[in-house]
Amino acid sequence: MTTVTIDHLTPLQKTLLITLNGRVLDANRKRPLLDDAKAVELARGIDYDHSTVRLGAGVPEAVAIRSRMLDRAVTAFVHRHRDAVVVELGCGLETRHWRLTASEPEPWRDVDWYDVDFPEVIALRETLMDEADRGHSVGVSLLDSTWTDTIPGDRPAVILSDGVLGFLSEDDNRRVLRRITDHFATGELVFNAYTRLTARMNGRFTQVVGMPHDFRGYGISDPEDVTALNPALTFIDEQFGDAAPERDKLNLAYRLLARLFAGWRGQARRGVWVVRYRF
Ligand SMILES: C[S@@+](CC[C@H](N)C(=O)[O-])C[C@H]1O[C@@H](n2cnc3c(N)ncnc32)[C@H](O)[C@@H]1O
Repeated sequence: MTTVTIDHLTPLQKTLLITLNGRVLDANRKRPLLDDAKAVELARGIDYDHSTVRLGAGVPEAVAIRSRMLDRAVTAFVHRHRDAVVVELGCGLETRHWRLTASEPEPWRDVDWYDVDFPEVIALRETLMDEADRGHSVGVSLLDSTWTDTIPGDRPAVILSDGVLGFLSEDDNRRVLRRITDHFATGELVFNAYTRLTARMNGRFTQVVGMPHDFRGYGISDPEDVTALNPALTFIDEQFGDAAPERDKLNLAYRLLARLFAGWRGQARRGVWVVRYRF
């Protein structure tokens, strides 16, 4: 099998290996939560010692559960808006488009899907994966205001971010959120959020791919911190991994913890925390 090297990627770009390996470890479990066979195939296609991407206890489960939560949010949006555009910010080697359209093709017939990431990551994606029907790649940094130029702004849009906004500074988040509401007429933004405390530990979790161990990500205390960055966003709801249906497939210790934390919002926000806004 031919494999591709990724030595040219920056540590920030290589963080895609963390979520990819989370999905691979999940797929190899006896009772997978996400069961993403394509992630296994993609990881095999990369010439990299994946065993160096060590993930902490519970991280593969968290990656799988938040993927499912975001999958549900985008699917619900597409059921309501059959002419939607889906925009995945910092897509890395995420396989969501493939996963969702494979499981239920009908509602996706007229939906266009845009995957946005750095040009090097999009080139890697294009080497490893075939473009799905109505799939479009956008190889540009989110910090470059032209990233929306090729994406229709006049259709209902659901903007997704899985493990991305936490890597941008507060100012950069403000710029990206503004770009979204300036360009797209109407839609939803849904992403996994980090508390300020969790975000402070970002470097500790990502140093396995070369990020500085003291790197601090962007975190929030409350969903309204995001609307303060961009008042054109209206908070809809927050969801916690501890209350997600997948928790019933966890081992006993995690199940008990999930039940405990599900009723304790401050603690639940430190786990898998998905927030949703309308604009
Ligand atoms: C932790 S990975 C998550 C990847 C993917 N969302 C997933 O769940 O597998 C973070 C991704 O964000 C991308 N990213 C970070 N900053 C970015 C920026 N300014 N513009 C575009 N992509 C960015 C990285 O290249 C990387 O692919």
